[in-house]
Amino acid sequence: MDDFQPFMLRILAGFIVLIVGFIVFIYLMGCGFDLACYRAQSEDIALKTPVPTLIPATLPAPAPTAPAGSSQCQVNALDLLGAWVEAGYPESQPFSFTDRTGALCQGTFAADIFPLLNENHVWYPASLSCTSCHNAALRKDSAGLDLSSYAGILAGSQRQTPEQAKGVDILAGGHWKASILYRTLTLAENIPAGHPPADYPPSERIIYAGAYAPAATTP
Ligand code: HEC
Repeated sequence: MDDFQPFMLRILAGFIVLIVGFIVFIYLMGCGFDLACYRAQSEDIALKTPVPTLIPATLPAPAPTAPAGSSQCQVNALDLLGAWVEAGYPESQPFSFTDRTGALCQGTFAADIFPLLNENHVWYPASLSCTSCHNAALRKDSAGLDLSSYAGILAGSQRQTPEQAKGVDILAGGHWKASILYRTLTLAENIPAGHPPADYPPSERIIYAGAYAPAATTP
């Protein structure tokens, strides 16, 4: 029984040597005799993962595409909203706007404005639709604003219940640059979550919308 203790100590020491040896072995396999080895730098880790889904998502933002052969206008999304507001926000009548090159185009609320507020991926890559927060539920934490219908947009923000017909006018009666809608979308700081972030300013978002107005004919 007396020689049991030294025996255990030797096993313990052997075990420690084994672990240290293993770590040294791993290091040498990875780095060789290089003390400035940086094979575990963070960008390497992600690229070397065997799980394909962990490859960093660096896909470029999808460029706006017009259907082949379409005559849609290329226009800045914020300018398009502005043109509709300045035109007195018509519900069914077409309104005019100019495309990026200054050419005259025509759009409608249903075809061109409604999707800006109700579709995902409009304002920046992977953006949520405005109406995922601003909808008929009139949530208090999203300013009691319903952008999901023409009536909701006109009724404005800070509404408590659907029965409340008038909230705060977000369109400033047609004065685009003075409107809460314009000012909220062009905030430089304290941008609410879900709104276009500073690195994707709405003023630079180009989309396809409307159609070129028929060339003016001289009688
Ligand atoms: C992820 C949720 C979310 C999304 C998506 C979202 N918003 Fe908002 N929105 C908010 C919140 C939160 C506020 C700030 C409420 C506050 O400050 O009380 C806000 C405020 C606003 C206001 C100001 C209302 C007021 O009276 O102050 C407007 C206008 C607005 N949003 C329009 C939009 C538009 C247009 C879009 C789509 C481009 C959009 N929002 C997308 C959550 C969202």
